[in-house]
Amino acid sequence: MKIAVLPGDGIGPEIVAEAVRVLQALDLRLELETAPVGGAAYEASGHPLPTATLELAQAADAVLFGAVGDWKYDKLDRPLRPEQAILGLRKHLGLFANFRPAICYPQLTHASSLKPELVAGLDILIIRELTGDIYFGQPRGRRTAVDGHFPGAEEAYDTMRYSRPEIERIAHVAFQAARKRGGKLTSVDKANVLETFQFWKDVVTEVHAQYPDVKLDHLYVDNAAMQLVKAPKSFDVIVTGNMFGDILSDEAAMLTGSIGMLPSASLNAKNQGLYEPSHGSAPDIAGQGVANPLATILSAAMMLRFSLGQSEAAGRIEAAVQGVLEDGWRTADIAGAGGRKVGTREMGDAVVARLKAQG
Ligand code: IPM
Ligand code: MG
Repeated sequence: MKIAVLPGDGIGPEIVAEAVRVLQALDLRLELETAPVGGAAYEASGHPLPTATLELAQAADAVLFGAVGDWKYDKLDRPLRPEQAILGLRKHLGLFANFRPAICYPQLTHASSLKPELVAGLDILIIRELTGDIYFGQPRGRRTAVDGHFPGAEEAYDTMRYSRPEIERIAHVAFQAARKRGGKLTSVDKANVLETFQFWKDVVTEVHAQYPDVKLDHLYVDNAAMQLVKAPKSFDVIVTGNMFGDILSDEAAMLTGSIGMLPSASLNAKNQGLYEPSHGSAPDIAGQGVANPLATILSAAMMLRFSLGQSEAAGRIEAAVQGVLEDGWRTADIAGAGGRKVGTREMGDAVVARLKAQG
């Protein structure tokens, strides 16, 4: 089992190092190979996604990814910015299905910005389509307007688009996921305004005919954003397009108390996957050893389960993380009253110790 390890920028290297230590503590036969990505790769070789890094990722069974980005690259031409590395990996590996669970751990309800009773026991899954929509739609660019409100003015434009097969395949993924959980799927769209999302809604409704055991409902994205803070536990699985999914998954993450706890998986049709924490590179705290490594450690667990067929090992990691929370270990982002405040490395140590104690 070959894993490409791409730590990236900011806190990426620190948190990935802990996830790697956890994987190594499992005594599985894993072959890990590290390569630069994002700003780190740009510094080293002038490109955020060097060919060697992309080829390593393509050849691997799975990619363990840290985070990319730093404000200092904001002025670079778009193709050279760190974010292009993750977008390029998604595109070249065909990682169309993005799983972003939002789980509120009982020990962390205090860290949520919502009242504890609204989030206690929260367990929802956002499935975000990841290779289509306005993120990748062509044409895009800048030009002189020929029509619109200001003909002759400079303007910029992007293209929102979805094809039937793109919607069908993510809908199948979502119905199947819902079937394995609470049996309820909410498709989020903007069908009242956008042609693309009327089509989305129509196709999801058609695919539903093959999953009569799953309850499907539809919400407009603005209402979905409101329901997520009003009654988050009313959701089970949410499926939506690339851009709405980007926004709603950050919102859902905050319900759980800390984005530092949330893993994610991005899969292609062959179950090859890229696994990364849902949070970003946090350059403001990089190098200080205070970042929470648990989202990355839990991403490694998702990797074992989804791409490497190692559900048992995945369960062991998840149990170990539960255990360290029960024991009161807390990084700064999840420290409330009480608990032992620890840094990145000590949190990794605590998870490894729990794993070893499982015998
Ligand atoms: C995410 C991030 C990315 C996205 C950025 C870094 C390109 O926000 O994974 O949610 O917009 O998809
Ligand atoms: Mg995002």
